[in-house]
Amino acid sequence: MSSLKEALRIFQFIRPYRWQFIIGLLLLFISSGVFMVFPFGMGLMLDVAQGRVRPEFDLGLVEMGLAIIVILLVQGVISYVRVMLFAQISEKGTADIRQALYSKIISLPIVFFEENRAGELNSRLTNDIGRIYSTFSFILAEFVRQLIFLAGGAIFLLWQTPKLAGIMMLTIPVLIIAAIVFGRWIRALSKNRQKVLGDSNTILDETLQTIHAVKAFSNELFENNRYRRSNEDVVQVSMKFAASRAIFTVFVITLLFGALFFVIWMGMRMIQSGEVSAGQLVSFVTFTAVVGASIAALSNFFTELVGAIGASERILEIMDTPSEIEERPQTNLKAGRLKGDLTLENIGFAYPTRPDMPVLKSVDMTISSGSKVALVGQSGAGKSTVMQLLLQFHRPDSGRVLADGRDIQDYELASYRENFALVPQEVILFGGTIRENILYGKPGATEEEIEAAARQANAWEFISRFPEGLDTIVGERGLKLSGGQRQRIAIARAILRNPSILLLDEATSSLDAESERLVQEALENLMKGRTSIIIAHRLATIREVDCIYVLEGGRIVEQGTHAELSAKVDGVYSSLARLQFNLMPG
Ligand SMILES: Nc1ncnc2c1ncn2[C@@H]1O[C@H](COP(=O)(O)OP(=O)(O)O)[C@@H](O)[C@H]1O
Ligand SMILES: [Mg+2]
Repeated sequence: MSSLKEALRIFQFIRPYRWQFIIGLLLLFISSGVFMVFPFGMGLMLDVAQGRVRPEFDLGLVEMGLAIIVILLVQGVISYVRVMLFAQISEKGTADIRQALYSKIISLPIVFFEENRAGELNSRLTNDIGRIYSTFSFILAEFVRQLIFLAGGAIFLLWQTPKLAGIMMLTIPVLIIAAIVFGRWIRALSKNRQKVLGDSNTILDETLQTIHAVKAFSNELFENNRYRRSNEDVVQVSMKFAASRAIFTVFVITLLFGALFFVIWMGMRMIQSGEVSAGQLVSFVTFTAVVGASIAALSNFFTELVGAIGASERILEIMDTPSEIEERPQTNLKAGRLKGDLTLENIGFAYPTRPDMPVLKSVDMTISSGSKVALVGQSGAGKSTVMQLLLQFHRPDSGRVLADGRDIQDYELASYRENFALVPQEVILFGGTIRENILYGKPGATEEEIEAAARQANAWEFISRFPEGLDTIVGERGLKLSGGQRQRIAIARAILRNPSILLLDEATSSLDAESERLVQEALENLMKGRTSIIIAHRLATIREVDCIYVLEGGRIVEQGTHAELSAKVDGVYSSLARLQFNLMPG
């Protein structure tokens, strides 16, 4: 039950709306109470119609009719206000949860995103939040309402027809025990169902994202089968889930109706012996029906609530994951504008998702402020990993990284990262305008700054050719830009950011010769006066750098200028260079 207590923490999100909640519950209380008058009134009217006046309620049929109309009107107003109050709580409460989750998720360390697939996470959260929404909006209220019916009905029954009620009550402990036992089972199945549902959504997501590859490889059939298998899993688990609920419902209904018919039979005998009036028996039966219906409804809402608790647990689990900042040593030291001296000391590193495969074993590098260095090595050698460590996406397992002579972990993270700009091989733009994409480097930059950055990045020429210029929509629903154009937008963004340290991860590797020339030019502009680390496959682009590091087997195996390394007879670099420059002279 400690997990239940944990999951109830989700209610912290409706705390700000507790007054609405309390008033809503109060109104619910009143309108449910009012509703209880009807079954009682029916029995009363029957007795009055038969000329059998009960001393405690001395009313005529006309007066009773009028009272019922008034009650109905009041009931309508109360219900309206209550529904609106609960809508407010649920809309605002879930919006708060979504917001809190979103800020939490983007604050999480990169490793979280390596461990969780985006599609699965997305569908899981959508599902979980949906459940919590319905809990806040009506399930909770209905649950309380049914509890009131149950309690009110039970009290009335005990008061008016204690003997008959007593027999009915005997079934209650059985129901409670069943609810606890079934609840556990149903909760486990519900969790399982969410999981397989997430898996199947992941497949859909992945296919949509890679649809070109799917078609080019004619893998529609393969994907279809993959999706079918996962879909079958969903059905299988869902059917188990449905069966568990069905069995519970059948159990409850059988027990209740069995008891009800037994009691009616008893009641008939009591009418025969004059122990109760016909009106009292009618009241009894209608009240028992109300109580029975509320128990059945409670069992249903109970499984929903249990499901919502499962959903809360998963949401809270994410909320409890320490953020990037919480994971590092605490510090308030602002990095300010770094000069850009970088030192890697004896760095060893393996990705947390593959801890037994060391990527970097003992890497030392000394990069002085304003210099240009290049990292070369086979694909998979760990070049990009070095950049990830510099950006503090991950922490090295051994050794340390210094910036301007201080361990980079000493700096406050955001202020440290502000010193960097990364231009990757595949630039993915956001779905807005070109302007928004460039502004990402420095929100709040002026129009002149944006244009100047675009010009320096060799991007102005093509941007100004679009009819809408900077306001051209790019990305999913907008214009498709070529790789070189996207690259130059990313460079404009980096220029606007004005970083002291520049990371170019194969920024020109996927471009054609003409785009490469334009991008290379733009990069030369960008690199001026900054510490630049360049990963490049085409060695021609790094001939002028101050130092080239050759990475192999997780270590730096060679370092020096192009001239020094080319001169080595058996060097890794010189053999690479010979290969490339023979094929591609100049
Ligand atoms: N996020 C990751 N999780 C686990 N392993 C990774 C991750 N990224 C890269 N690797 C592995 O680390 C090694 C180095 O990768 P990387 O630094 O990207 O190489 P390079 O940039 O030199 O091509 C590769 O074997 C790669 O499979
Ligand atoms: Mg790489």
